[in-house]
Amino acid sequence: MIRIPKPWQLKENQTTPERLYLNRRHIIGGLGLTAGLAAGAALAKTKPQSTRKALVFKKSGYTIADPLTPENLVTSYNNFYEFGTDKSDPAKYAHSLITDPWTITVEGEAAKTGKFAIEDLIRQDELEERIYRLRCVEGWSMVIPWVGVPLRKILARFEPNSKAKYVQLVTKFEPSQMRGTRWPVLDWPYVEGLRMDEAMHDLTFLATGLYGRELPNQNGAPLRLVVPWKYGFKSIKSIVKIKFLKRQPTTSWEKSAPREYGFYSNVNPNVDHPRWSQSTERVIGGGSFTSLFNRRETEVFNGYGDAVAELYRGMDLKRNY
Ligand code: MTE
Repeated sequence: MIRIPKPWQLKENQTTPERLYLNRRHIIGGLGLTAGLAAGAALAKTKPQSTRKALVFKKSGYTIADPLTPENLVTSYNNFYEFGTDKSDPAKYAHSLITDPWTITVEGEAAKTGKFAIEDLIRQDELEERIYRLRCVEGWSMVIPWVGVPLRKILARFEPNSKAKYVQLVTKFEPSQMRGTRWPVLDWPYVEGLRMDEAMHDLTFLATGLYGRELPNQNGAPLRLVVPWKYGFKSIKSIVKIKFLKRQPTTSWEKSAPREYGFYSNVNPNVDHPRWSQSTERVIGGGSFTSLFNRRETEVFNGYGDAVAELYRGMDLKRNY
């Protein structure tokens, strides 16, 4: 059988040399890199970085000045409950997820629906890198160089109609490949949703890679959402379904704890989680890992207020959390 490589699975010599990449990381990461690498070594073992295929992508203006979180922390300290609830479980167990072939089903209020092979949806020549902070509702954050495409570009291809007010995204549910789904920790499959204007916002990103290489399974291979102004749990992993809906869908975390997690989940230091404050966050891999210095003040909309506050004008964000 001849295996045809996916468009993004190019040979090493067709890509940005890793040397340049690492050099840039080093410059940006500064001292935080060294401390983080040491901390990461103590965490779960992950697939060696070199076994992930390198991607070709354009740089973009979407960046932040803060140091990048060292890659081995990004890929070993994860939330992906389909593989267990411990931070180290996804890196240990997500290798069992089969990501090739991968099909995405599109349903609902759109002219073009059906099943699509991932390589037909995500074009390699459209890939770009965006550096976004991922702020978890649990009170930690990471700065990650994602590679992917704006979600709006993909959604537009299905020609949603005027009744499409929301988008629901669904994670793969395959108990034989996802050991964590044997337990009813959440109501599987994992589902998330966005209002149509949130989904079509330029910042909303579908990632196929990080740190210049295809996503590791524990980070949501082969395709995951990244919504930088919302808490990390909105950033659903390993997406197999996109539904255009008339009405607001429920989401996994809303279903599991409606008092704690709402549909909107915008990063908001002024609205406490019922069990803890959201005013500061622990910077994973930042500063010295035993010190108090690796904390930062959480920003409204994770720092993207200028770009997204408009979407919520007139809404009471204490009620719509
Ligand atoms: N997607 C699925 N399918 N299952 C999950 O458990 N966890 C969410 C989100 N997406 C989760 C998910 C949470 S709580 C966070 S903080 C981010 O993924 C973590 O992403 P990372 O592991 O790539 O840092």
